[in-house]
Amino acid sequence: MNHFITLKDIPAMDLRKIITDAKKRKDKRNKFNTLEIDRDKPLKGKLLIQMFEKSSLRTRLSFYLAIKQLGGGTITLRTNELHLGKGGESLADTAKILSTYGDGFMLRTDSDKKIEEFSKYLTIPVINGLSPSSHPTQVLSDIFTVEEIKKKPISKLNICWIGDSNNVLNSLIAASVKFSFKLSIGCPKNYEPKKFVIDWVKKNKGKINIYNDAKKAAMNADVVFSDKVISLNDKINKINKIKAFKNFQISSKIMSFAKKDATFLHCLPRGAEVSSEVFLGKNSKVWLQALNRVHVQKSILLYCFGRLR
Ligand code: CP
Ligand code: NVA
Repeated sequence: MNHFITLKDIPAMDLRKIITDAKKRKDKRNKFNTLEIDRDKPLKGKLLIQMFEKSSLRTRLSFYLAIKQLGGGTITLRTNELHLGKGGESLADTAKILSTYGDGFMLRTDSDKKIEEFSKYLTIPVINGLSPSSHPTQVLSDIFTVEEIKKKPISKLNICWIGDSNNVLNSLIAASVKFSFKLSIGCPKNYEPKKFVIDWVKKNKGKINIYNDAKKAAMNADVVFSDKVISLNDKINKINKIKAFKNFQISSKIMSFAKKDATFLHCLPRGAEVSSEVFLGKNSKVWLQALNRVHVQKSILLYCFGRLR
């Protein structure tokens, strides 16, 4: 059994294996209906318990489809409906019960510490479905999408992020080290990645380029990523933050600094960080990106359940 909490802690070889498996499985489903089960039914009879402390559309639906297509099933819990959320039951006891009824646990939480705590008490794998510090399932799936579109390993591409230094970027930074790709980040001075993130990159012999200028970050990029300026866990002054990002909106002008065939990706939901022209433009692959989460999360589940071939 394997937990899937942060990309930093997962060996690069395992991450690559997940992507390779996802590609094989996706190819085999060419003419399948949405709920048709993969022929080998690898997770037949298994239950994934999903718990959301914060809103979700894509993560919830894509994990639902992922476990279903592998032959298993899922139930979704909201913390405020549990004794845990109301403070009447300990995390340790909750974890024990989750492990008694379920085979895997997917958690979207506003506390990184909570996932760590769960991983100590659970006897089933826990998957981070977004936390304040990372969004690993999203980013691993995005690596898959980039390689599918560009038809080459991501290590041969220039990847650019223009936007906030948030959970999604933290995972993308971790991925840049694990998959050895060039990452340029464009963000305002006061919103650069935290020191512990940069220190981790240096310690692991990675390199990221940070520019306080969106055009410089976009220069020669094969792929431009973005995400909302205000995240679910943001407790800061929103008006000031939005003002600081005024010159970082991804417009066609900014995209013109990237390569001619540069792809635009965004995990969704979107805000004003990207113009509709770019978001709905021909180089935007955001819908494919969302769909691919089903395929990659299937292989993440198999990895967690110790069933990856
Ligand atoms: N991209 C993503 O995680 O979307 P949801 O918040 O809708 O799950
Ligand atoms: N950074 C965003 C991602 C949403 C999928 C957030 O945490 O709200």
